[in-house]
Amino acid sequence: MAKVDYMDCFRTSPGTIAGKYMRMFWHPVYRSKDLKPGWTKPIKIMNEEFTLYRGDSGKPHVVGFRCPHRGTQLSLGWVEEDSIRCRYHGWKFDSSGQCIEQPAEKETFAEKVCIRSCPTEEYLGLIFVYFGEGEPPSLPRYPEWDREDCWVETYIRPCNFMNNLENDPVHIPFTHRESEFFLVRPVEIPTVIPEETEWGVMLTTVAESGRTQYLHFAMPNLLCFKESDRDHLCWRVPIDDERHASFQLDIQHVKDGIEGEAVKRRHAARTGQLGRPPSEVAEAVLRGDLRIQDIEGPERANIVWIQDYAVQSGQGPVETRRNETLGLSDRPLILQRKVWVRELQALADGKPLTQWARSERLAELRSYSHVPEESKNQSDQQVSENR
Ligand code: FES
Ligand SMILES: [Fe+2]
Repeated sequence: MAKVDYMDCFRTSPGTIAGKYMRMFWHPVYRSKDLKPGWTKPIKIMNEEFTLYRGDSGKPHVVGFRCPHRGTQLSLGWVEEDSIRCRYHGWKFDSSGQCIEQPAEKETFAEKVCIRSCPTEEYLGLIFVYFGEGEPPSLPRYPEWDREDCWVETYIRPCNFMNNLENDPVHIPFTHRESEFFLVRPVEIPTVIPEETEWGVMLTTVAESGRTQYLHFAMPNLLCFKESDRDHLCWRVPIDDERHASFQLDIQHVKDGIEGEAVKRRHAARTGQLGRPPSEVAEAVLRGDLRIQDIEGPERANIVWIQDYAVQSGQGPVETRRNETLGLSDRPLILQRKVWVRELQALADGKPLTQWARSERLAELRSYSHVPEESKNQSDQQVSENR
């Protein structure tokens, strides 16, 4: 195999080296509550299409996208117990992908027809799927998020999953300047120290105010942090090379005051109860029809997602990643890419891969904020200035 280049990390279609690597891990593909029993959904993950459905038993299943008979989309069909029947001529497949009925064939050859199926597991309000070959590894557990009051949110962004994974803390004072992040804390550029850990890359962010934050960019595609205001865990899952879905879990700790109110409004906006969807507003921003600083009314509640959507999608297609001008503040991204390239090269050369796992040390690491009292007192005034 030729030498792996950082540009290889962005491409996860079947047959690519990053695609092979990513298929060695479980990935969330859908929110549990969005898939009712008896429903089917066409899904695309890492540039491959599948049919996701929930059987009458309540278990989710993932099988091939097209019927092998004459190729129509299986998601058009009916769920029968835990099997799926094609709408075109009624061939029926069980959840292992085995064809079990061909009603119009006098001499059935169903036993010779089998479509792909992938192992699924439901956990933390998400449907996880293993797209790799052979026995899947055990699904990693995150018991701190296994709680009734955990918010499970999802969105799609029209950019590569790496754009979101490489979203470093230095963007916050710029990208999110007008957001609720700065209601009670000063806008300042933090110092970021990256280091490789047993789970991936950890960034320790230290602000002048003394605020310290630990961010885990866990391999291969997770972001995790625990802060005074919330515990956050999310996955960036490629749909294809130019789009990705995020699935994020939040345990909110701030429930009162202006920050608590902002968080509740943000959640309402994300779940479609306030204003236009953030993607629609962000697209208007990218077209130049709207300035971020002018977003008002209910849509402002979701300004954080709009800002991130705009800058990450604004980075353009994967090929533009070749034309970067990196500086010392990009050391987190440089380390992330180095780790990715090292693992992909090992995979290509048939060498052992790092077995990533969250250790107890990392699980317990909690960021803390030191917010000076005077900034808290100024917060009301700052709200009006921010608007
Ligand atoms: S295309 Fe599915 S049964 Fe004919
Ligand atoms: Fe952001």
